[in-house]
Amino acid sequence: MRASLNPLIADLSLPPIPEAQSWTRRYDGAHGPLINLSQAVPGTPPHADLLARLAEAAGSADAARYGMIEGDLALRTAYAAETAAQYGVKLDADDVAITAGCNEAFAVAAMLAAQAGDEVILPTPWYFNHQTTLSMLGITPIALPARAENGFVPDAADTRALITPRTRAIALVTPNNPTGAIYPPETLATFAALARDEGLWLILDETYRDFLADDGAPHGLFGEPDWGDNLIALYSFSKSYAVPGHRLGAMIAGPQAVEGIIKILDNLQICPARTGQIALAWAIENLRQWRADNRTDILTRAGIFTEVISRHPGWKVESIGAYFAYLRHPWPGTPAATVAERLARERGVLALPGSYFGPGQDDFLRVAFANVESAQVAALDERFAGM
Ligand SMILES: Cc1ncc(COP(=O)(O)O)c(C=O)c1O
Repeated sequence: MRASLNPLIADLSLPPIPEAQSWTRRYDGAHGPLINLSQAVPGTPPHADLLARLAEAAGSADAARYGMIEGDLALRTAYAAETAAQYGVKLDADDVAITAGCNEAFAVAAMLAAQAGDEVILPTPWYFNHQTTLSMLGITPIALPARAENGFVPDAADTRALITPRTRAIALVTPNNPTGAIYPPETLATFAALARDEGLWLILDETYRDFLADDGAPHGLFGEPDWGDNLIALYSFSKSYAVPGHRLGAMIAGPQAVEGIIKILDNLQICPARTGQIALAWAIENLRQWRADNRTDILTRAGIFTEVISRHPGWKVESIGAYFAYLRHPWPGTPAATVAERLARERGVLALPGSYFGPGQDDFLRVAFANVESAQVAALDERFAGM
């Protein structure tokens, strides 16, 4: 008799990006090479010095050994110092745990906060891996609609109405995937106060924080007394250092949470992969300028994208920031997947349908403009013409 799958896994939707990629096979190349705006992957390779450090670390006996469960002290110290400087607060290595990417960090945060049968509130459109991670753990994602007219910034007042005795956490992403919306510090403070009042965790995914145009602190939450009672902040090294394949992310949390995180991480990974940790402990301090230059390039691409789209009637950039633009297409009522498939097949432009990011998103496409060079963003002008 065939063994059955855990129904929580059997019922999970398949990863959506391969379906979208399959549409490009029907593009005949008439408009030039495919412009792939689908996946949030860095368009540039890592800095040559980082590659050299990775090679050196990979060849060392040290990297072949298990390290600390919560991550190497050198990387935690460097990351705590970097974050403390950016937010103007005091943080140290004990506040940090290193994970196999921010996706794992989210899964760990979800396991820490909730058990099967509990609820976690997620603004829609959501980052699909957040929704599926919760679902595979038997935790119910509760949709909190973030509306176009509010720049896709969710409202804490709407959130209050969704809280039930089973609610354990609110999970926010800023700068947001898929919309690019940047949540103002006051909004984040309101969510933090709500989490405190209701005894919930606020899980804050800041994967794209290094791409904010502004150099100031993105929010003041780490400056609150007892911030660690309710806040878990997540980060990814994948995008900022262009190393998604090395699978490294980070969590910042208070002492009680870090203890729980270590219990979970011991079971999931024993320790994070050592090679990348060794190289990144160096890179944080030494590649600051390179990261700033990348950010400038990406901001330039955002500007070009907005300008290009403004020339095409019916299309509208509803929100844009960091890595992404959320684009309203000109055919209300037509499923976003139909529009995205047509754009891929007829024009060789791959963007993801809004419907991949939760209910009520059929009027939108997500565009990861950070993936491609400025010249390709400019080339979209010709691709959108007459669509
Ligand atoms: C909001 C968000 N969180 C987490 C991740 C995953 O990042 P990582 O490569 O660090 O697992 C992504 C990647 O696209 C993301 O967009």
